[in-house]
Amino acid sequence: RTALMFLSRREGLKDAATRLPALGRVAKRFIAGERMEDAVSAVKELNARGLSVSFDHLNETVRTESETREEVREYLRLLARIDQVGARGNVSLKLTQCGLLFDRELALANARTVVAEAARRGSFVRIDMEQSEFTQVTLDIVRALHREFGQAHVGAVLQSSLYRTEADARALCAEGIRIRLCKGAYLEGPEVAYQDKRDVDASFVRTLHVLLGSGLYHGIATHDERMIDAALTYAREHQVAPGAYEFQMLHGIRRDLQERLAQEGHPVRVYVPYGKHWYPYFMRRLAERPANVWFVLKNFLQG
Ligand code: FDA
Repeated sequence: RTALMFLSRREGLKDAATRLPALGRVAKRFIAGERMEDAVSAVKELNARGLSVSFDHLNETVRTESETREEVREYLRLLARIDQVGARGNVSLKLTQCGLLFDRELALANARTVVAEAARRGSFVRIDMEQSEFTQVTLDIVRALHREFGQAHVGAVLQSSLYRTEADARALCAEGIRIRLCKGAYLEGPEVAYQDKRDVDASFVRTLHVLLGSGLYHGIATHDERMIDAALTYAREHQVAPGAYEFQMLHGIRRDLQERLAQEGHPVRVYVPYGKHWYPYFMRRLAERPANVWFVLKNFLQG
């Protein structure tokens, strides 16, 4: 996992990797395609199967102001397209896509433009969570956007791998901010994060109890059936109705589970990434599951 996460951050590999046809074929398992219309087609199919979505235009760690402006334009086009095709979905946005790496005010201003447009259209923007060095500033920006646009139009993500998460969940819930809870996809050190999967899972369960007890509409983002069972058990024992929260999963992962939960009457949202900068996202998906590396090698060997 460490090696794959290291490779995911190598800027030099990004362009070379995205030009390899065999890798592109494998990436298609996790990414809807390189164009917005590829994502729209995938979403039509998911909506028809009773699943809602969150679109994500892939491009993280953007380093120039002009590129951040291009990202904002893409999101404005995306929000318009969602309305135009009547897709059941919202959008997810990363703050490093908006300039957080080099200018915090620019990141806030860019995110604000996207959230303002989503609010105008009655839609919602989930601000994805990235590495722990950005946790505090990301939550500060979400809070500023929430004060201006309210809980219907912007929400946060918390990662159960971080020690701070249960306390963050309590604070954000008290402020009325909607949360997506996930385990955390980044490699973090013992000074900020649990290193043992059992501790990450225990933190996930503790935090999901906070969320489900809050009366707000949150997203439980996991493919782990034990985490899903923990949510269902808590909801049953504390009379939390099935429509009072949603499950969220990633495009291409556990489609069987997505459909089963939807058929049982639980709202399920699928995260649908698209775009040509898929390399870091794809590498994180490989790192999560070593078996995926064999899948890649098999595809290479098949040419
Ligand atoms: P876990 O890793 O324990 O996996 C449980 C089971 O799920 C595995 O046994 C396997 O069956 C299946 N599975 C999981 N990952 C797989 C993969 N890559 N390929 C194939 N099967 C796989 N992270 C973050 O840091 N910031 C964020 O903003 C988000 N956003 C986000 C949105 C949504 C909707 C989801 C579902 C996830 C995220 N994540 C994220 C990613 C998250 O933190 C985490 O890395 C992955 O969801 C994998 O963790 P699981 O909870 O699935 O458990």
